[in-house]
Amino acid sequence: MDMRRRHFIQFAISGVAVTALPACSGEGTSFDTRYPISPYDASSTAEEVTEGMDLSGKTALVTGCNSGVGYETMRVLAMRGAHVIGTGRTMEKARIACASVGGETTPVVLELSDFDSCVACAEAVKELGRPIDMLILNAGVGSFSAFELANGVEKIFTVNYLGHVVLTMHLLPLVQAAEKGRIVHVGSRMGYMAAPEEGIDFDNLRGEGKYSPSEAYGRSKLANALFSLKLSKMLNSEKTTSNVIHPGFVNTNIGRSAEGVFGYLYNNVANALKKTLEEGAATQVYVATNPLIEGVTGAYFKDCNPMVINLPNHMFDEALAERLWQETRFMLGDYLPAV
Ligand SMILES: NC(=O)c1ccc[n+]([C@@H]2O[C@H](COP(=O)([O-])OP(=O)(O)OC[C@H]3O[C@@H](n4cnc5c(N)ncnc54)[C@H](OP(=O)(O)O)[C@@H]3O)[C@@H](O)[C@H]2O)c1
Repeated sequence: MDMRRRHFIQFAISGVAVTALPACSGEGTSFDTRYPISPYDASSTAEEVTEGMDLSGKTALVTGCNSGVGYETMRVLAMRGAHVIGTGRTMEKARIACASVGGETTPVVLELSDFDSCVACAEAVKELGRPIDMLILNAGVGSFSAFELANGVEKIFTVNYLGHVVLTMHLLPLVQAAEKGRIVHVGSRMGYMAAPEEGIDFDNLRGEGKYSPSEAYGRSKLANALFSLKLSKMLNSEKTTSNVIHPGFVNTNIGRSAEGVFGYLYNNVANALKKTLEEGAATQVYVATNPLIEGVTGAYFKDCNPMVINLPNHMFDEALAERLWQETRFMLGDYLPAV
């Protein structure tokens, strides 16, 4: 068996373990009682958490609207009356997804590995001339790929984190123009369960050292959490908030590129442990809309509730968030708007 294949199988086994075990063990989290606790839980659906809500006049932007929890998020927000701007990697994908849900939707193109596309997407959204009440940074790739660079940086990090930073920073004035703008970062528990021990291994972002797909995914999801934290400090406001969520282990297309035994386990056997799409979208929809948590910022949510993490983690590490922000500014250069 060649090294690559052996490494893949080892990763597969550890990946299934890291994915499945927390579902049985409570994931090392408990309610963060500094914030309001909701009546919802892991089995709540996006429709349930918005029942009776009228979102007419509100605008949401959902990245990755054509698949998985992004699609369900768009569907439910539009059903409740919001105008939803849905992004797809091609206009065709975004258009088909938008046309398949009821309510008011606008398709736009966003390819997160291409920073020009991120800027162009923001420009297209600005032309719509509406404040953004809910910016839901949902699109992402899973941890099933071989090492690749995009814009000189490890690709999962580029797609899941850097591309969203470019988009967010260009759209920030529109979110700040909303009466109460909410930014929701779709992170993952892998941000503390699979990230490198030091959190972000800055000296290994360009493939300088060992590549572990699960660590790369964990690192990208930790970066989502640290960006959320940094934004909450930067905005320093209850008017415009920034929170990170974990949707749960959800039956989506994220494992589509997983191959072999692991692919079979992940996409079939493990389905019994997964949330449905309706349940998986609930937390991000709750955090984007619910009046109970108005003004809450810089928090971590899962199962529709704010959580503290009772395991070693870097999710709330302000010094690391600041360092990541400085490195990010350097990596993105002119792709970031002047502030
Ligand atoms: N499913 C889970 O168990 C789970 C757990 C924790 C966190 N999450 C997070 O939940 C979010 C949504 O994932 P999902 O599970 O719903 O997966 P999914 O069904 O695969 O949806 C992912 C979405 O992201 C889009 N996307 C992928 N690469 C992109 C790129 N380079 N540029 C722009 N868009 C891109 C996809 O577009 P295409 O369809 O065109 O590829 C798709 O619309 C992700 O951030 C993921 O990390 C998921």
